[in-house]
Amino acid sequence: MTRVAFITGASSGIGAALALAFAREGTHVAAFARRADRLRDLQTTVAALPAPHGDLLALEGDVTDPAAVANAVAQTLAHFGRLDIAVANAGVGQRGAIVEAGWRDLETLLRTNIDGVLHTVRAAVPALRQTGKGGHVFIISSVMYNLPSPYAASYGASKAFVSSLAASLRLELEGDGIAVTDVLVGRTATEFNEKRLGAGKRSGGGLPTMQPETVAQAIVQATRRRPNRLILRFFDRLIVLGNILLPGMMGRLAKRQYQ
Ligand SMILES: NC(=O)c1ccc[n+]([C@@H]2O[C@H](COP(=O)([O-])OP(=O)(O)OC[C@H]3O[C@@H](n4cnc5c(N)ncnc54)[C@H](OP(=O)(O)O)[C@@H]3O)[C@@H](O)[C@H]2O)c1
Repeated sequence: MTRVAFITGASSGIGAALALAFAREGTHVAAFARRADRLRDLQTTVAALPAPHGDLLALEGDVTDPAAVANAVAQTLAHFGRLDIAVANAGVGQRGAIVEAGWRDLETLLRTNIDGVLHTVRAAVPALRQTGKGGHVFIISSVMYNLPSPYAASYGASKAFVSSLAASLRLELEGDGIAVTDVLVGRTATEFNEKRLGAGKRSGGGLPTMQPETVAQAIVQATRRRPNRLILRFFDRLIVLGNILLPGMMGRLAKRQYQ
């Protein structure tokens, strides 16, 4: 039986690379995002892959709208007949002091990075259960999830929320045979930085940067190993460990980076 993956934020960056990687290895993809033109381009790219490949269903919608996400999952089931993998990937960044940041930016960040993940999980899990044991939820978090992040505090806190959610969700779903993988992504070359909300677009000068295809490949492989947590590089492991052992020092380094 061909596997089916539902991916939010599939119109660019990690989500688009993941949609392609899944389709290339024969998994059908339901690709959800607001930019329908980008999804159509992705559909054309997938259709041109060497056979055999998975198909791509383009689903235009906003992850902050629970009805739109539920409707997209229903369309996925109607089209492909099953759901095996759900990837809560859509997200935005934001920079600026906690007090001075515009509320509109903060609200967009919270509604997208927190509500969007909740809407995705709440819509997808019943469909995964319906398919049977072996389902998989991926939560796309960040190595910033446990980093004191002055001037990027709400973004860091939004990733702390989803990583915490992943740890609890895993226990809630273990009886269903559904795995939950918390993906702690490090700096990746996508549109993320240029689209970031709030102050200053400068970012990460000198930090090692991955390609979205590297993240995508690791996630595809993780559908077989089913790890609780996925950290791709040694550098990213160092950040996560440093945040545990030396949070004060890491916070000061982050302040220099983000201010
Ligand atoms: N790039 C990095 O360095 C990095 C590091 C750590 C974690 N991450 C995480 O990786 C994830 C993917 O980001 P990326 O780097 O691939 O950035 P990206 O290229 O900007 O992709 C973000 C995706 O989210 C979608 N999205 C944003 N708001 C949405 C909304 N309201 N409804 C539906 N879709 C929405 C965008 O699609 P539309 O605009 O078409 O809706 C786009 O497809 C995010 O959760 C991000 O926090 C990225």
